[in-house]
Order: sequence, then structure tokens, then C-alpha cells
Amino acid sequence: MIDSTKPIDDATPLDDISGLKLPANQSYTLQDVYIKEAENIASATLKYLAAPPSKKEASFSYAWIMQLHQEMFGEVWDWAGKLRQVELSIGVKAYTVSTELKKLVDDIAYWNEHKTFDTFEMATRIHHRAVQIHPFQNGNGRWSRMLANIYLRQHNTMPVRWQEDLLAKENPHRVDYITALKQADKGNYKNLITLHKNTY
Ligand SMILES: Nc1ncnc2c1ncn2[C@@H]1O[C@H](COP(=O)(O)OP(=O)(O)OP(=O)(O)O)[C@@H](O)[C@H]1O
Ligand SMILES: [Mg+2]
Repeated sequence: MIDSTKPIDDATPLDDISGLKLPANQSYTLQDVYIKEAENIASATLKYLAAPPSKKEASFSYAWIMQLHQEMFGEVWDWAGKLRQVELSIGVKAYTVSTELKKLVDDIAYWNEHKTFDTFEMATRIHHRAVQIHPFQNGNGRWSRMLANIYLRQHNTMPVRWQEDLLAKENPHRVDYITALKQADKGNYKNLITLHKNTY
């Protein structure tokens, strides 16, 4: 279970190894799991970001955004691609996750159709709404940044260098990133949009 007394921008601790798909006869450190996750995520990165994905490959439908989480974490965690059933310190109430995700999918389609925002603001809003909902037990940050990067790549913009290095808590840009997310929570997207412009 995630400790809700921890700061909300802290990474998830490894006390909860239930659902870990790695062989059970060994013990794993946080770093071991990060490496396995990074390998799994790398295959999704190759699939969606090596070349611009078509609307068919990355449809931004409800089923596809769920599938993306499965593709990123399914080799490591058995809850990958499955909606969480527990309350976390970030995110909407668990019972509203599916409704909120459906609303996001509908909003994305509407924004695309009406050209409401430019490509960077689209990517920013997709990222922010997805991580605000926090549909999964873990991996919500990486999944929501991947969604945004796939959107950018599909719209002929290069993906953002999020420096998804191991033990991302040590990343010096993390404070700026979390601050920008909190500003977006209040409707101020400027700094998060700037981060989305930091493309290759
Ligand atoms: N105030 C906030 N509002 C929205 N999202 C937040 C807020 N604070 C943190 N977050 C996001 O939630 C993430 C943590 O969620 P989770 O542990 O599910 O994702 P992760 O992919 O494992 O982590 P990370 O994003 O650190 O790689 C943070 O990294 C950040 O992306
Ligand atoms: Mg985490």
C-alpha cells in the first residue's frame, strides 16, 4: 500500500511488491525494478516514438490509452493496464477513474476537431489531465509523459527529453517539473508548456 503521509511528489516506495512479475525466488532492490521497468518502457518508446505513429497505431481512444500502460509496464507488474481500486495521495477517487478517463478521451477528440489548442498545449493538457486522474497503481507519471510525447510525435514535433533516468527523484529538473504540474492544477499551464517545448 502507498503511504499517503509521504510527500505527494515522492516516488512510490518498493514496500509493495505484490503484483511484481519477476521470478519470486530472488529479492529485488528498487534499482532492479527500475531497470526492468526501463527495459519494458524502452520497447514502447521504440514502438511509438521511433517514427511518427499513425492515428490507427495511437488512436487516443479509451482502449488504447489503457493498452499503452500495459505495453509500458506489463512485463514487470500484473496490475499494468488495469485501473487502480485503491485511493492514492494523488488522483481522483478510484471509483471515478473510468469516467474521468472517458471525459479526457472525449475532450482530446473535441480539442483535435476544433483545433482548440496548438500542439504543445495539447500535449501539456493531455499530460496534466492524465496524471491528475492517476488511473493506475503506479507508473502514472511515465505513462502520462509518454502519452504527451506520442501526441507530439504524431503531430510532427519531436518528443520531450524528460531525462527518464533511473531513480528519477535525483533528477535536478524534478522540482521544476512538479512545480509546473502544481501550477497547471490551478489552471496556469505556462511553465508546463515550456517544459513540453524542450524537445529533441
Ligand atoms: N500535484 C500534482 N499534480 C499532478 N500530478 C502530480 C503532482 N505531484 C506529482 N505528480 C505526478 O505523479 C507522479 C507520481 O506518480 P506515479 O508514481 O504513479 O508515476 P511514476 O511514473 O511511477 O513516477 P515518475 O513520474 O516519478 O516517473 C509524479 O512523478 C508526477 O508526474
Ligand atoms: Mg511511481
